[in-house]
Amino acid sequence: MKYSHLAFQEWLAGRAEHIERTLDELLPPADAVPTRLHDAMRYAVLGGGKRVRAALVYAAGQACPISGHAMAVEASLDRAAAAVELIHAYSLVHDDLPCMDDDTLRRGRPTTHVQYDEATAMLVGDALQPLAFELLAEMPIAPALVVQATRALARASGSLGMAGGQAIDLESVGRQLDREALQTMHGMKTGAMLAVSVALGGIVSGASSSARQALDDYAQAIGLAFQVVDDILDVTADSARLGKTAGKDAADNKPTYVSLMGLEQARAFAQDLREAALQALVPLGEGRARLAELADFIVLRDR
Ligand code: IPE
Ligand code: IPE
Ligand code: MG
Ligand code: MG
Ligand code: MG
Repeated sequence: MKYSHLAFQEWLAGRAEHIERTLDELLPPADAVPTRLHDAMRYAVLGGGKRVRAALVYAAGQACPISGHAMAVEASLDRAAAAVELIHAYSLVHDDLPCMDDDTLRRGRPTTHVQYDEATAMLVGDALQPLAFELLAEMPIAPALVVQATRALARASGSLGMAGGQAIDLESVGRQLDREALQTMHGMKTGAMLAVSVALGGIVSGASSSARQALDDYAQAIGLAFQVVDDILDVTADSARLGKTAGKDAADNKPTYVSLMGLEQARAFAQDLREAALQALVPLGEGRARLAELADFIVLRDR
């Protein structure tokens, strides 16, 4: 498949700008009461992040022929993309709390509990999560699709997805997990939110069940790859580049793909997952180009 690398970077930057504007409009204004909470919510969500999850929603939405009114699908993709970025932002705010990873730097700035206070950081999470579901409920598409999307995001972010994976992460400090256990933890804490981003694009655009299967196979592979690369970057990149504290996993005794198999093998595993992701996309034909580029981006990124 031929595509220009520069065109992809431009597309991704354009999507990031678009979702930034969308989130800015959909979040309550900073001067709405309670102003400190709304200010902190905006601080946690706006002005940073690669916006990979939003990009996955849009790319998956583009990958399949749209069934339904194009403008309604577009407006719904915006809401779905905003919803995953809101849940993701809340997960980062809580992940950084002293009772979890105790981090002070996020997206190149002080973490939310450092900038505000711990109670506010907790409430930011409490408030961003329902806002995400409110946005899904507002999607102007068939109600059955809204229900499917809602269930998928609830599943991916709950105890069988992200929140559960975070629980396993905390239980696993100081232990070396075997490969299967590590894959389960990573698949839940990170993979599930990436996978649901892809799934939401398919649901909103009314993808066929065979297209949804291809999207799901792709999503499983890139979801795991994303956290494998996050583990690698924690070792190989510096804090300035990452915008978060590098070397934190080893310092905190977290089991990672690097601690399990070493840097070279972890890199090779990420490449295997990239191959699997690209292979899974084949049934989607020409529409798969952006998703393929995102698989490359996820594995080849340096931050
Ligand atoms: C970081 O996610 C947390 C993980 C799930 C590994 P990202 O690397 O996508 O963070 P941002 O959104 O770009 O800041
Ligand atoms: C975070 O994993 C996963 C979630 C936020 C759900 P990490 O703890 O590895 O993420 P970073 O490295 O702090 O971004
Ligand atoms: Mg963590
Ligand atoms: Mg962390
Ligand atoms: Mg990490």
